[in-house]
Amino acid sequence: MAEFTLPANSVVKGGKTFDAPEGATRVRVFKVYRYDPATGENPSVDTYHVDLDTCGPMVLDALIKIKNDIDPTLSFRRSCREGICGSCAMNIGGANTLACTAGIDEFEGDIAVFPLPHQPVVRDLVSDLTNFYAQYASVEPWLKTDTPAPSGRERLQSPEDREKLDGLYECILCACCSTSCPSYWWNSDRYLGPAALLNAYRWIVDSRDEHTGERLDALEDPFKLYRCHTIMNCTSACPKGLNPAQAIGEIKKTMVMRQF
Ligand code: SF4
Ligand code: SF4
Ligand code: FES
Repeated sequence: MAEFTLPANSVVKGGKTFDAPEGATRVRVFKVYRYDPATGENPSVDTYHVDLDTCGPMVLDALIKIKNDIDPTLSFRRSCREGICGSCAMNIGGANTLACTAGIDEFEGDIAVFPLPHQPVVRDLVSDLTNFYAQYASVEPWLKTDTPAPSGRERLQSPEDREKLDGLYECILCACCSTSCPSYWWNSDRYLGPAALLNAYRWIVDSRDEHTGERLDALEDPFKLYRCHTIMNCTSACPKGLNPAQAIGEIKKTMVMRQF
């Protein structure tokens, strides 16, 4: 990424600059979005010069370095540091991804670090994902059955049916896909977005689930499902290599096929 500059009409202004320690030879510049609602001030972008000789290789390492050694007021979420929990999702160098699996070396020039787009910001890089999680809950992401479980063993599934869940069950609910989707930006109150829909499909296609029709009925709505216009940003954004656009296409296909 080339030199990062804010658009002239942006309400986000340049903020403080933190220089690298004297003698540092391998310095990278991080331009980090800052917002503290308690101050009532507009957001700003602070500039941190980080000495890579005292920092790990990932963008999350740089953020931890900043918080520990340069500016303890910086807020961000993280937990596992290995791409499993989804909590460090943010917009880095203009693309949604996980800070813990994004190598500093993957970026050129100054590295812009912003919260996930088009979500309310709690503070700094912490997005408010209340609506995102409520939409996930709305697809009832658990096995629903009417017949009693077989006595003394689990509900079985053929290897072929189990394979249908590959590419779906791995979702870590990071929200990189939904927050990169233009349809979701403009209609996130009514469009479920790619993450919730991929998870809806994970249960629709599960051979053990006995509420498929009810699940499809719940999605038969001009906004919940059909606001997807196959723009494909979601699939490009997924840091786990999943294909939410394809899952949405499969739901639409299933909707059509059940009429025959
Ligand atoms: S394919 Fe659908 S869900 Fe994915 S980015 Fe496009 S509109 Fe959004
Ligand atoms: S589909 Fe991918 S990008 Fe979307 S929430 Fe799941 S893991 Fe994250
Ligand atoms: S810290 Fe868990 S995915 Fe990055």
